[in-house]
Amino acid sequence: MSKKMFWILMIGVVLFGSLAATRTLWQDPGEQTWLQDYIPKLNILPKEKNLAYEKACAACHMLYAPSTLPARSWAKLMQGLNNHFGDNAEVQKDIGIEISNYLQDNAADKVENVYAQPMMNLLESDELPLRISDVKYFKLVHDMIRPEMVEGNPDVRTFARCETCHYEALEGRFNKFAVRIPNYYLQGVWKKY
Ligand code: HEC
Ligand code: HEC
Repeated sequence: MSKKMFWILMIGVVLFGSLAATRTLWQDPGEQTWLQDYIPKLNILPKEKNLAYEKACAACHMLYAPSTLPARSWAKLMQGLNNHFGDNAEVQKDIGIEISNYLQDNAADKVENVYAQPMMNLLESDELPLRISDVKYFKLVHDMIRPEMVEGNPDVRTFARCETCHYEALEGRFNKFAVRIPNYYLQGVWKKY
């Protein structure tokens, strides 16, 4: 290799290196694009799980995401476990406190995700819902669903069984592209098979 070629190559390497270095310096590591910020919010489950919650509350129905109710609702619900929608769901006192804290820390008024914000925006400050399915936001997104598709549907029976229609519910995703209603199909409106 000639001397001239060597130096041209060297200058090239140095130029490329400093360009790459300034490129990484320009990027603020704290800066996030809109999409990077939005994608984690599509999943409404908290990052940290709670074993006590899983043990005590998954026996009769799916484990609801804490961000589907405000903290005050979880507090009230946890105080009345001896008469829990007609069932006795009582737990040991210290376990009850742990679960209640976990639910309240991750409640709709404490976290940010695609469920919590629209839900809280439509909730009056004096409302104390004990059912996820009683909340205005919930009713709004399900207003096209007729009673015969839920109560009259042997494979659903109640709105409390989110997972019968939202097949990614247990993973914390409720978007409208991951939904089917058992025994129904969508053709403009939902029709019975
Ligand atoms: C012994 C059974 C049982 C256990 C254990 C239990 N639940 Fe329930 N839960 C029910 C029943 C029954 C309903 C009413 C379901 C329906 O409407 O079909 C319900 C409903 C709910 C709802 C309202 C769902 C809706 O309709 O929007 C919430 C929230 C809830 N439970 C939270 C909890 C929490 C938190 C725990 C743990 C501390 C728990 N449950 C443990 C039986 C149970
Ligand atoms: C009978 C079936 C059924 C049950 C049970 C049900 N859903 Fe839905 N849900 C639907 C359908 C269908 C849609 C889609 C509506 C649409 O296309 O806009 C929907 C929409 C939603 C949306 C809005 C999604 C979006 O992309 O805008 C949320 C959030 C949601 N459901 C949460 C829940 C939760 C939480 C539960 C349980 C407490 C539940 N659903 C129970 C059928 C159901």
